[in-house]
Amino acid sequence: MSYLKFDKVKKVYNKKVVAVKEFNLDIEQGEFIAFLGPSGCGKTTTLRMIAGLESVTEGDIVLEGKSIIQLEPKDRNISMIFQSYAVWPHMSVYDNVAYALKLKKKSKEEIDEIVQEVAKIADISQYLDRYPSQLSGGQRQRVAVARAIAVKPKLFLMDEPLSNLDAKLRVAMRTDLKRIHQELKSTSIFVTHDQSEALSLADRIVVMNHGVIEQIGTPNEIYHESATMFIAKFIGSPPANFFEVVVKKDDQGLYLEHPSFKYYLDLKVTKTLEKEYLDQSIILSVRPEKITINKKDALFETKAAIIEPQGSHIIISADVNGDDIKIQSEILDMKVGEKINIGFGDIVQFFDKKTERRII
Ligand SMILES: Nc1ncnc2c1ncn2[C@@H]1O[C@H](COP(=O)(O)OP(=O)(O)OP(=O)(O)O)[C@@H](O)[C@H]1O
Ligand SMILES: [Mg+2]
Repeated sequence: MSYLKFDKVKKVYNKKVVAVKEFNLDIEQGEFIAFLGPSGCGKTTTLRMIAGLESVTEGDIVLEGKSIIQLEPKDRNISMIFQSYAVWPHMSVYDNVAYALKLKKKSKEEIDEIVQEVAKIADISQYLDRYPSQLSGGQRQRVAVARAIAVKPKLFLMDEPLSNLDAKLRVAMRTDLKRIHQELKSTSIFVTHDQSEALSLADRIVVMNHGVIEQIGTPNEIYHESATMFIAKFIGSPPANFFEVVVKKDDQGLYLEHPSFKYYLDLKVTKTLEKEYLDQSIILSVRPEKITINKKDALFETKAAIIEPQGSHIIISADVNGDDIKIQSEILDMKVGEKINIGFGDIVQFFDKKTERRII
């Protein structure tokens, strides 16, 4: 039995806006799940339905074997933190963290013990006497985290909690959240539209688009075995490159034909392609860092049109038969206009042209 179960959950606002369609998901106790998807895909709506801030139109949400959708938010034992700093400005940090514990009628000693403990975990022990206005954005979000975990919730929900922070702090807070999760193992759902945040934090990622789940998988599965072209484009920075190719066969074996290259396929993948796609167009997808330059496997020649240095590597834009592709390379002294010989290695993905779904 899963810890948290979504059973065909649907949400329709005002009888017309379908925000979430057939949402089915099983979460195990202690998992860190990320809901990832573009703006408006239904992430916040789903989170609010779990917390009880939004009603469920159809379907059920079951926590530890019991339906929770009829329960009042306060009876669900769920903590939620939001994008904006959800701390009370008129209370000290200590009182912010202690507030929910006081409501639970815990003794002063017990409250103090918990506040000190979670303050240590969230690294805010030295700020307990301050007011939120005397803290930085990152410190304030750590207070929100401390307050949320103080009540030992059954579920810890976070809706883009890092998006108000500057880039450097976001990355630092990300590590903090991961450490806190490793210490507490509280079952957590983290909403974001930042793919790198989802990849770095989550045990499993739920990729959403237009109110439906496109894929559920580990960060590696989502990245290397993307279920759809939408995901291959959405994940990765820069995203995957796509080439429209035709599946062909000659006496050397099966290959993919493109106006600029002929790419012979590995035996592993040939069966399905030969059986179902021979002489048809499919989409070949290659990640920027999997493209090789000037190696033995080179398939065609192009030129480095634009070079964007990233410190540890460069991103090259190059033209392939009118399409712009992105290549990640460690050849830091590459010059604009330099001729480059492109190869694909063997880590590629294939998608059906019509359905845009993964073929193998
Ligand atoms: N109270 C509401 N009334 C009507 N429609 C709503 C309401 N709240 C959200 N919606 C709509 O439901 C859809 C999903 O919204 P939701 O806020 O869940 O998206 P999201 O994935 O969290 O997006 P973002 O990344 O921008 O926060 C959107 O089309 C939105 O306009
Ligand atoms: Mg949202």
